[in-house]
Amino acid sequence: MFFRKSQPAGAAQGAAAPHADGTVTVTMTVNGQAASANVEARTLLVHFLRDHLRLTGTHVGCDTSQCGACVVHLDGRAVKSCTALAVSCEGATVTTIEGLAHGDKLHPMQAAFREHHGLQCGFCTPGMIMAAVDIVNRKGNQLDEATIRHELEGNLCRCTGYHNIVAAVRAGAAAMSGVRQAAE
Ligand code: FES
Ligand code: FES
Repeated sequence: MFFRKSQPAGAAQGAAAPHADGTVTVTMTVNGQAASANVEARTLLVHFLRDHLRLTGTHVGCDTSQCGACVVHLDGRAVKSCTALAVSCEGATVTTIEGLAHGDKLHPMQAAFREHHGLQCGFCTPGMIMAAVDIVNRKGNQLDEATIRHELEGNLCRCTGYHNIVAAVRAGAAAMSGVRQAAE
C-alpha cells in the first residue's frame, strides 16, 4: 500500500492562500464530482471526507496509521487517508467506498465480501475493500492466499475474520476480470 507523505500546510502544489480565519480552500475530485471546502491547514484527508463531504464510509480506527480502516484511492493508488493532509491533495482525484458501486450494482469486490461473508461488524470493511481493489489493480486478478495476506498487512480486523476476508478478496479479484474462481 502506498503511504502518502504529508506535506506541510501550504507546501502542496496549487494550495490556495489562507483566508482571514486561517482556513484554506481545498478542491479535489471525489467519486467523480468536484468537491471543495474551507478547511484548517491541519485537516486530514479522512476528516475532509467524513466531516466536510459527509462521506462517512471511510472510517477512523486508530489515527496512527495502523489499522487501514481509512483507506481510499488517491490518484488511483490506495492510501491511508489519516496520513495525508487535505491541502496536500489539492487537485487530486479521490475514490472512496461510496464511489465503488454503480447505482444499485455492487462492485465485484463488494459483492464478493457479501457472498463470502468477509465481515462481521463491518468496521474494517470499507478499508479492506478499497485495499483489495488496489491489490488487484497492482497484482492482477489471480491472487494466491499468501499474496493477499501479505498485501493486507496494513489492514486490521478486530473481529479477526481474516479467513473469510482472504477468500472474499480472492473471489473478488477473479470476478473483476470476469473469471470465475474455482470453489475451494
Ligand atoms: Fe488510518 Fe487507522 S485510521 S490507519
Ligand atoms: Fe469487525 Fe473487521 S469485521 S473489524
